[in-house]
Amino acid sequence: MKVLEEKIREEGRVLSEGVLKVDAFLNHQIDPSLMVQIGKEFANRFRDNHITKIITLESSGIAPALTAALELGVKVVFARKRKSLTLTDHVHVAQVYSFTKQETNEISISKEYLSEEDHVLIIDDFLANGQAALGLLELVQQAGASVAGIGIVIEKSFQEGRSKLEAAGVRVESLARIAELADGEVTFLEHTAG
Ligand code: G4P
Ligand code: NA
Ligand code: NA
Repeated sequence: MKVLEEKIREEGRVLSEGVLKVDAFLNHQIDPSLMVQIGKEFANRFRDNHITKIITLESSGIAPALTAALELGVKVVFARKRKSLTLTDHVHVAQVYSFTKQETNEISISKEYLSEEDHVLIIDDFLANGQAALGLLELVQQAGASVAGIGIVIEKSFQEGRSKLEAAGVRVESLARIAELADGEVTFLEHTAG
């Protein structure tokens, strides 16, 4: 997605440890018109897939999930994160280990908002090692719902997230794919339409 790649080049900052800081428009401050364009692009890619619900993870997944949901005319459920492990029987729960933060979080979605009748689109802001996406997939499976695919705003293609998700048989649509972060420069893998 060209407009997103331009935004990343203009306002993103490459941190030395292979991390792209995009607080200017995605992870802290949010650019609403860009977010609307992102939602339209996700909707276009999944328009014919009979999506009934979008699932994301708080907090940075919510904005792109919301704009995609508006376009597709479905509701959004964001999984909640918490550190303590109090199992309750009214929620689906999965463990997500973050390599970046070196901690495990529990993510959960109420059984009330995800059921076996749902055909789900999972959306998240970043794809790195894929742990968050795999956790969301697990919640969908626990609910007995089916998954149409995963929409990612920014994929770090030099990490293993995509290959793990594809190995699980899931369609991955990333709007920007980063081949390399080096010397303060972002190199994109390919230029996709839109
Ligand atoms: P994974 O889920 O793909 O395995 O990734 P990882 O554990 O490494 O990511 C942990 C958090 O760091 C996630 O945010 C993820 O979106 C974010 N992240 C990973 N790599 C980058 C990067 O290069 N740049 C930025 N900006 N974020 C990155 P989170 O903790 O869920 O935070 P939030 O949703 O509250 O923003
Ligand atoms: Na994030
Ligand atoms: Na995230």
